Amino acid sequence: MKYTRADFPKDFLFGVATSAYQIEGHAQGGAGQTHWDTFASSPGNVVRGENGDLACDHLNRFPQDFDLVREAGFDCYRFSTSWARVLPEGRGQVNQAGLDYYDRLADALLERGIRPCATLYHWELPSPLADLGGWRNRDIASWFADFTEIVMDRIGDRMFSVAPINEPWCVSWLSHFEGHHAPGLRDIRAAARAMHHVLLAHGQSIQAMRSLGMGNLGAVFNLEWAEPGDNSAQARRAADLYDGIYNRFFLGGVFNKSYPENVLDGLEPHLPSGWQDDFDTIGTPVDWCGLNYYTRKLIAPADIEWPSLKEVPGPLPKTQMGWEIEPAALTRFLTRTMQEYTGDLPIYVTENGMASPERQRDDDRIDYLNQHLGAVQDALDQDVPVKGYFIWSLLDNYEWAYGYEKRFGLVDVDFHTLERTPKASFNALKSALTKGRNVSLPMAQPAGAVHEHWNLVADIGGTNTRLGVVSNGALTDLRKLPTGTLPDLLEAFHRLRDEIGTDPQAVVAAGAGPVKNGTIRLTNAHLDLSETELAKATGAQHTFVINDFTAAAWSVAEATIADVAVLQGAASPPAGTRLVVGPGTGLGVGALIYSEGRYHTVSGEGGHVGLSPRHRDEVDVFDAARHIAPGCFFADSLVLEAEMFLSGTGLPILYQAVAMASGQSDTPPRTAKDILQAARDEVDEVAARTARMFTAHLGALMGDMAVTLMPVGGVFLVGGVAEKNRWLFGDTFRDAFNEGGRFSDLRRSMSLYVSEQAEFGIVGANNFCKNALMR
Ligand code: FCB
Repeated sequence: MKYTRADFPKDFLFGVATSAYQIEGHAQGGAGQTHWDTFASSPGNVVRGENGDLACDHLNRFPQDFDLVREAGFDCYRFSTSWARVLPEGRGQVNQAGLDYYDRLADALLERGIRPCATLYHWELPSPLADLGGWRNRDIASWFADFTEIVMDRIGDRMFSVAPINEPWCVSWLSHFEGHHAPGLRDIRAAARAMHHVLLAHGQSIQAMRSLGMGNLGAVFNLEWAEPGDNSAQARRAADLYDGIYNRFFLGGVFNKSYPENVLDGLEPHLPSGWQDDFDTIGTPVDWCGLNYYTRKLIAPADIEWPSLKEVPGPLPKTQMGWEIEPAALTRFLTRTMQEYTGDLPIYVTENGMASPERQRDDDRIDYLNQHLGAVQDALDQDVPVKGYFIWSLLDNYEWAYGYEKRFGLVDVDFHTLERTPKASFNALKSALTKGRNVSLPMAQPAGAVHEHWNLVADIGGTNTRLGVVSNGALTDLRKLPTGTLPDLLEAFHRLRDEIGTDPQAVVAAGAGPVKNGTIRLTNAHLDLSETELAKATGAQHTFVINDFTAAAWSVAEATIADVAVLQGAASPPAGTRLVVGPGTGLGVGALIYSEGRYHTVSGEGGHVGLSPRHRDEVDVFDAARHIAPGCFFADSLVLEAEMFLSGTGLPILYQAVAMASGQSDTPPRTAKDILQAARDEVDEVAARTARMFTAHLGALMGDMAVTLMPVGGVFLVGGVAEKNRWLFGDTFRDAFNEGGRFSDLRRSMSLYVSEQAEFGIVGANNFCKNALMR
């Protein structure tokens, strides 16, 4: 690709789009019949009479498809919900399996750190509603609002953004005047009514979602630039009318509460009476505007009934659809939309892409995307608030009247085997989007949509500090900087706030050290940081300083199968109390106590429980350690504080003691990292024994603590030592965890995981933050 993420503004989002009927497999999962099923089965409408019965079988394959979305580095996934899947009759009885599916889909996206962007209607109208006149019937606005409420009541808490309807022009004009899409009518009265009702339904749907307390709601229009076929006044007039019907009617209705005069000339007699009174509903304020853009058309006058115009072939290069490639028109649309309709409102390109017969080496698509990203750049240069760009489409799919013949996917689909194969464009985008990306995925997400504000989370270490920007519950930016002095640190918070331009709603700072009266004593960084100072530096309403082990415990609050390696027990961490142990500089122990449906934390000083020899031949080692760290022993016993062996600081002590016990009194001190490396390389027997003891004692200690707490939600090993030395935590570790005399069976029944979340301090601070705000 010509561009990478770094060429776009920091908050610019990249996404990929699909729609329900085109990929799900509509014959499965209890969905009702739609007008696309019957349109497709009527001769002459669709290439080879193909329909969406199986399509890409996304219904069953969505997890693997979302792995691809994540792999490519997309921030967002735009999908649609099928009305007939949720309400097979369009109204009344809900198909629970359908709602459950969208619920799982939402979670599967969030688990992968992808923002779910929903469209409620992308064209498959339930047949029973089509029988009642479908979009010609004014009641459709209320039917659609009811459907909106049912779907969003279930998944609205997890949506990043929602638009009611995809492409009102296609729903109405293309389907009711040109007859190319279901229901295949060619009738001006039907078209006029559908055009008006589709906007009314949009407005009522937005209102329904506002009543649910939802934010980040928008509208998605498809635009086609109309160019006069020649320089005559007639051609210019024809192009202007095409522009009116295609583009200005819908944008004008929603943003300016009016329809263009030249369109009313032909349509007014056919609009439902009292149409003017609907503009307050149609124009219900939205939060963003989405533009789908593919091509432009050359328009000439034609000697036929209104609108008396026709398309004429243009000279530009064309895609497999026969559509001319004209990126400059995208720039023009973006600037015109801002100037005439949306002002400061964020604009997203919600669809752009091309059909190509190239199933692997689709360099033509890479070129198309480059040209259109360039067009977006040009709009950004003119200060258009473009906030994101979505590619149509993730997969080759059911391209409506063209059946499976036109391939728009970044990923090839073999429609016989349903096998997915990423094309060259997928790989090109992947390197453009993941290069320089400093946010580690997957990120935990909120259990309630938290829109229109951001939070700042920090993980303050002795040497380095990480500052994370969280918007809508997801980490969108992560900075690493030296911790420095207290003024340096506060200045870094302040600078980040200034860069974003608004005060964060909340700030959570986690660090190693005790918290007292809203101040944390950061022992490694040697400074005291208070919540009041954080509020002053950032303007945040809520500030929290928390102990790093509170953060570590919170890091597993939303842990899923994707975040852990399973040593024993359930593949996906069950809900319930969780124990977290993390050997880092010290040995941290924390717990998430699960009660009444929510988590609470306990962070104690578990690192200082007693450790004693597990075998006779370890007695010498413990004895030797008494010479090195006498103060850490419990009176004159052989029991010492666990942290003195089981941590980054402790490992060198253990190593020294092992050396002394085996008669080597002159072993030079080594760092924890060197010791573990030498053990792994099998070059130093003392290091190897040190590592074995470390593993076994840590396992046993975690087993003991687990028996105390009964964490049915799992026992998690977290932190740097575990992350960098996975080899230490295999069978020996698990066996030691399970060895518990009469309680061995109990220990064996517990789920044991190694957390694989990078940046767990930040993830934990974010989960803490969401939880604190929810209260
Ligand atoms: C858009 C539709 C989408 C797909 C592309 C090629 O108009 O939203 O479903 O058909 O065109």
